Amino acid sequence: MIALLERLARPVLHRFDPEDAHGMALRALQWAPLPAPQPDDSRLKVRAFGLNFPNPVGLAAGFDKNAEVPDALLRLGFGFVEVGGVTPLPQPGNPRPRLFRLDADGGVINRLGLNSHGAAAVLRRLAARAHQGGIVGINVGPNKDSQDRTADYVRLVEAFAPVVSYITMNVSSPNTPGLRNLQEAKLLDDLLARVIEVRDRVSTHAGPTPLLVKIAPDLSLADLDDIVGIVRSRKVDGMVVGNTTVTRPPSLREREKAIEQGGLSGKPLFPLSTRMLAETYVRLEGAMPVVGVGGIDSGPAAIAKLRAGATLIQLYSALVFHGIALVDEIKRALLVEADKRPLAELVGVDAADITAQPWPV
Ligand code: FNR
Repeated sequence: MIALLERLARPVLHRFDPEDAHGMALRALQWAPLPAPQPDDSRLKVRAFGLNFPNPVGLAAGFDKNAEVPDALLRLGFGFVEVGGVTPLPQPGNPRPRLFRLDADGGVINRLGLNSHGAAAVLRRLAARAHQGGIVGINVGPNKDSQDRTADYVRLVEAFAPVVSYITMNVSSPNTPGLRNLQEAKLLDDLLARVIEVRDRVSTHAGPTPLLVKIAPDLSLADLDDIVGIVRSRKVDGMVVGNTTVTRPPSLREREKAIEQGGLSGKPLFPLSTRMLAETYVRLEGAMPVVGVGGIDSGPAAIAKLRAGATLIQLYSALVFHGIALVDEIKRALLVEADKRPLAELVGVDAADITAQPWPV
């Protein structure tokens, strides 16, 4: 029913500026009386980072930046929801327009610039729903004009650990100048040492909160070698691969919009992000689970991510084009696979082959 209503509303929403349309979707989710979903088939269950996921299909960061509708999103069938990115202090982000739909490509370009209501407002909302269960993680990043970005992450981890299921360190948004430099080996190592120390300290009352690192798909393989070495030695709980790309595949059809600055997501990101996922998976050698994100827009695309090395998957942009019915479609496709063998046995089976292929353009 919700999927039907949404399908009817989507052509109308697409006539609005993309950011206005997104705001309307959030308001609708705030007010829609959503029924509790059917419990997921037990074959979709995944255990990762010490958490029990009812299904592996998550909502990626950026949709519910301020934790306004995490429970509505869980009710729509997601196995987990990553709210944020949140910054310590409120910040407006970049001037509008800053969100562009590439209809012919199934892609999105955004340069929102981590617009956030700030930690205090988001913390209030998450604390109010913390007892409700359901896996809600948070994506954290520093303020744009922060003098001490490490201190920003430390503050966010300390504040949010007691009220979320996991925390993702966003060191890969292309829209905060210099943020991606934190992926540089020495800086990342220092940053992780500090946040893990505070995470472990608050765990005495907050319990163990898994810490994930989300990387850019635009890293060189030499940088990826360093990053994987560091997250393994620091015993991070998982990786998220990955964020939006600043590259523009030559195949993009919406040439005028393609030149907009910002991070590209959606279908055109799939080949690159899946390649980086496989490259990460083979380097991790099973040390931790990987969340595969980027361009998932169908059941087969979701299965390809598992085969490339994802234990869990996330999506965002495809919702703009296919609507919320996509979540059920993907879960149905996963169940067809699960009939043949447990889904866990699918994870990474194609990774080595993918890394031997020519680099995707
Ligand atoms: C994002 N993404 C993102 N990632 C992140 O780590 N922190 C954030 O705040 C945001 N914000 C954000 C806003 C918008 C409008 C988009 C489209 C994306 C990136 C997102 O989580 C995901 O990694 C990419 O979009 C790739 O997945 P999809 O969209 O291709 O499924």
